Amino acid sequence: MADLRDWIASAPSGAKLPSTRTLVARYTASPVTVQKALRTLVAQGLVESRPGVGTFVRVVRPARSADYSWQTAALGTPRSRRAQLFTSLRTVPNDTIALHSGYPDRELLPVRLVRAAFTRAARSDAVLDRPPTAGLPELQAWFATELATVAPAAVMPPMPSDVIVFAGSQSGLNTTFQSLVGPGRPLLVESPTYWGALMAAERAGVRVIPVPSGPHGPRPEELARAFEQTGARAFYAQPHFANPTGAQWTPPAADRVLEVVREHGAFLVEDDWAHDFGIESVPVPLAARDDSGHVIYLRSLTKSVSPSVRIAAVVARGPARDRILSDAQAESMYVSGLLQAVALDIVTHPGWRTHLRGLGPRLANRRDLLLTALREHAPGVVPELVPRGGLNLWARLPERTDVARLIRDCEAAGVIAAPGDEWFPGEPPGAYLRLNYSGPNPGAFGDGARIIGRALAGQHPE
Ligand SMILES: Cc1ncc(COP(=O)(O)O)c(C=O)c1O
Repeated sequence: MADLRDWIASAPSGAKLPSTRTLVARYTASPVTVQKALRTLVAQGLVESRPGVGTFVRVVRPARSADYSWQTAALGTPRSRRAQLFTSLRTVPNDTIALHSGYPDRELLPVRLVRAAFTRAARSDAVLDRPPTAGLPELQAWFATELATVAPAAVMPPMPSDVIVFAGSQSGLNTTFQSLVGPGRPLLVESPTYWGALMAAERAGVRVIPVPSGPHGPRPEELARAFEQTGARAFYAQPHFANPTGAQWTPPAADRVLEVVREHGAFLVEDDWAHDFGIESVPVPLAARDDSGHVIYLRSLTKSVSPSVRIAAVVARGPARDRILSDAQAESMYVSGLLQAVALDIVTHPGWRTHLRGLGPRLANRRDLLLTALREHAPGVVPELVPRGGLNLWARLPERTDVARLIRDCEAAGVIAAPGDEWFPGEPPGAYLRLNYSGPNPGAFGDGARIIGRALAGQHPE
């Protein structure tokens, strides 16, 4: 194959390959092997076979400029003018110091458990069966039990049937906003908040209303005012290790927010994306403390199990659950049973708990390494708080910093960070960076901070 590929690379397009019989003799390979190699080359688009005539180097068609201008009129104005690809999802060359990504490095994943679970699942009926729309019953039960084990005695925990499995919580957010809020209706969100939630809200056509949120969450009276002024019936929030700020609501603050939500007959859409990434704190979801159907709970395994095992759950009760399930069915019918079986295998394996116990200290090391590096080499980058969990530092930059220019300068010098602007539903009230400490090579945090510090100093000479 390699030899033929070299030959093809230097041959003119349309050149005829030697016959199968010649290739068999030349490579002392069987006809079956030669046919297999040729089939692969055809599949790779390098050669084309003309039955009864032979195999030929693929004719390269001359490039011509295409005119798609008619689509402008057919499509009309775009729904959104936001950047199409957000920084957290960018893939960058291996030698870049990557502080931008939202996804943990492989060394933080339960690699052995994931590989073994796929092997077991490949031998099971999961590769053939269609799971129910709401999810594999055992996986529904696992998600429900996660909440039940931390629910106070007086609270009725959710049933497995209250759980709907999604292919990632991004998909869960899209459906939840569509089902429970709907086009033109208001949705309160923390500001700043997860850009993907803003994108999902925009897709669902809902009207996003920002509510400022600090290190302990939103101020209850401000939230109450926003409910009253807008008539909103839903509030999207991350009570634990929020992306991007790392904020965690205290239990009394969480109680007050729940009270406000209940008083306004509204839903709290609780996004528990970092449930498995506690460092100094084990998060207790608000959903475990509510049995009145006001909390719609999202829990994702994408980042803690594997970005390839894209499994999450939405837990909802009453008619809200029925509406979400009905929309989920319309959207995707069901989530791959194979991935559900793999996720279930991993989270019910004794090694999963062991893995999680080791994860907190490793995240703590990385977080502290980045904090120290910033303090030493980039004192103008000031983290708003030391997060007690999650994967990110949210850092304030000096006033009048041109964040876009800072990002460009850093990238040119080999570091990529995420501009804070992407997390604000409105105009950013200041200059911020989000720095993720779960990426590859924490040994390079010092160099990364040095580059950011230098680029920032270039904008603010003493
Ligand atoms: C706050 C928050 N919610 C939801 C998601 C999406 O999760 P998933 O990967 O399960 O779609 C992310 C991913 O970055 C996130 O940060």
